Formats: sequence, C-alpha cells, structure tokens
Amino acid sequence: GAQPPPPAINDTSSKLVFDDAHPWEPLRPGDIRGPCPGLNTLASHGYLDRSGVVTPGEIITAVQEGFNMGWDLAAFVTYAAFIVDGNHLTNLMSIGAKTPETGPDAPAPAIIGGLNTHGAFEGDASTTRDDFALGSNFLFNETLFDQLSQAAIDFGSNGTLDVTSAAVHRHNRILDSIARNPNFTFVTPRYLTAYAETTFPLAMFVSNQTSDSSMTLGLDDARSFFQKHKYPDNFFRRNGSYGFTEVGELATEVFELFPDIFPGNNEGVGNYVLDPNDPGFNGDSLCFAYYKQTNFTLSLYPDPTDELRTALQQNLATFYSVLGDPTCEQVFPFGQ
Ligand code: HEM
Ligand code: MG
Repeated sequence: GAQPPPPAINDTSSKLVFDDAHPWEPLRPGDIRGPCPGLNTLASHGYLDRSGVVTPGEIITAVQEGFNMGWDLAAFVTYAAFIVDGNHLTNLMSIGAKTPETGPDAPAPAIIGGLNTHGAFEGDASTTRDDFALGSNFLFNETLFDQLSQAAIDFGSNGTLDVTSAAVHRHNRILDSIARNPNFTFVTPRYLTAYAETTFPLAMFVSNQTSDSSMTLGLDDARSFFQKHKYPDNFFRRNGSYGFTEVGELATEVFELFPDIFPGNNEGVGNYVLDPNDPGFNGDSLCFAYYKQTNFTLSLYPDPTDELRTALQQNLATFYSVLGDPTCEQVFPFGQ
C-alpha cells in the first residue's frame, strides 16, 4: 500500500557517484528503461532497482543520492507522475513501459502504464525523444540528438550544451512540434516539465557542478546519459541540492531567451491555439499542476473501493503535502 515519502538526505555535498558500489551494467532481458535519462541512469547503476520497477520512495531517495536533486522537487515530480502512472495498491511503478511486474491492475479506465504513458505525465517536444504522434516517445532518437548537437555547436560555449544552446534546442523542439504534430499538446504539467527538463542536464549531468560554475555539458557526456543511461567515468554529483528554488530560476532563464511560447494545443499542424485557462509560469504553477494531476487521477479511478480508495486518498494527500507552501486548497475527490 501507500507509504509516506522518505526524508531528505543530510549530506548534499559533491561526491563520486560512479563508484565501486554502483557499476554500470547492461540491460538484462526484461529490464525496463524509458523516457527519463536521469532515472534510466540511476537504474543502470543500481541506485534504483535494475529492473526499472520501483516505488516512489525509492525514486525520491535515488535522485537525491545519485544527482543531488532537491527533496522538494524530487517528491513533487515523483508524485505528479506516480499518481497517474503507478499502481496505487502495490506502490510500484515502471520507469518505462507497462508491465505485469507492477502487480494486478485496477479496473479500466485505470492505465497503470508506467512513465511511457503519453499525456499523463510524459509529453511532447522532448529533448531527445519523439512526440508520441510522430514516433517513439521513450527511445533515444539520433536525429534529435544531432539537432541538440548542432545547437551546441552553433550557440553553445565551446560547442557545449549550456543555457543558451539548451534554450535554442528547447525552442526548436516546440516549433517543430507545432509545424508537424497535429496532436501537439503543450499544457501543464507538460509545459512546466519541458522547461524544467531542459535545465536538468545543465544542473545535474555536469560532473561536480557548483552553483557558481558555468553549466556546460560536453556532447559526449550528454550522449552518455541520454543514450547509454551511463554516468561518464569518474562522475561526481553536483555540489548542493537542485530544488524548487534553483529550477525556478534556471527554467525562467531558459524561457526568457525565447519568451514567446505559452500553454496551448495544436488544432491541426501549424495551428497552435493558446489555452486561456492554463497559467503556465504566470500563476501558481504547482497548484495548477496539483489540480490537473488530481483531476486526471479521478478520471482514471471513477469509483474505487476498499484498499484502492484508501491508497488513492493517501497518495493524493502526499502529493498535496509535497507542494511546499501552497496557496491553494487541498481537494479530496476520494474522500478524507
Ligand atoms: C524527462 C520522469 C528525475 C532528467 C523525463 C520524462 C519523465 C521523467 C516521465 C519524460 C518527459 C518527456 O520528455 O516527455 C522523472 C521522474 C523523476 C525524474 C518521475 C523523479 C524525480 C530526473 C532527474 C534528472 C532527469 C533527477 C536528471 C538528473 C530528465 C531529462 C529529461 C527527462 C533531461 C528529458 C529527456 C528528453 O526529452 O530527452 N523525466 N524524471 N529526470 N528527465 Fe526525468
Ligand atoms: Mg516526451
């Protein structure tokens, strides 16, 4: 059943995380990886179970240990995904494809499809994965990595992925989806995660990153994470945690370089229509994401009974509790 989230780690200093206790190992038959290079890497080094089937608590601990993601950001992102993609009864979630390893399914319309599930948490205009309507939304895509590399060569400091080149690629990916994907969807939570994920390689894939250093990621190291789910040799996690405050600042910086994209959806290719109800960054973003994910969860579980209802109550309460200091009211669609 549901569990409370694990605590924050005490020591957030930089340290060697590609150590003897965490060797990279190739996939065994049945091991699952998915659209997140961070979680894929943690699983391939044993910070997460190498099967790719994990609990939310295991994710929250692993992203802190292995990357120094801040507890607040880790808990929020994990529960935003878990409540729509995980199994509330067994407390297990796949970091990629749907699998029987997460245990018996709740009745439809529950999906319990893991992180590959399109439109629940995973979304369009990803960095190195295709839009669901155009290709694989979870496999590494060489064409997209080439485009990222070109942005780094043309705009990045010494050919690296840095804030400028990452922002160029982020913007290009959105324009490409507008131009080619008739189903392009770019609303909360995807709108927020798209900008957040653009900052993650800068903040957490750079070895021994410090808050005052330049945030430049070489393309070989980028490929190591995005494609091979592998830490570069001798990789040190960043110094100091990367939480809500830090991601808010850096995602804003990325957005401000091309401040022309607001939440919306395509109504046919090339016809991007704004969603007037979605505040994007111009509102209480976390509260809006809380309401959207909660309503989505209710649509998946219209009439749960017994332990399933209890687990849903507990996991939604946990999700609300990890918003930080919300100005929004808690909702109880499954009762209190
Ligand atoms: C993308 C989940 C933590 C780096 C994604 C996606 C999911 C996801 C579902 C796909 C979204 C999309 O592009 O459509 C999670 C969850 C986390 C987590 C549940 C738990 C805290 C991390 C961490 C890092 C990271 C710690 C880096 C150290 C990335 C990057 C992408 C991504 C760079 C973009 C991948 C691409 O588009 O090519 N994540 N993630 N994530 N994640 Fe994570
Ligand atoms: Mg995607």
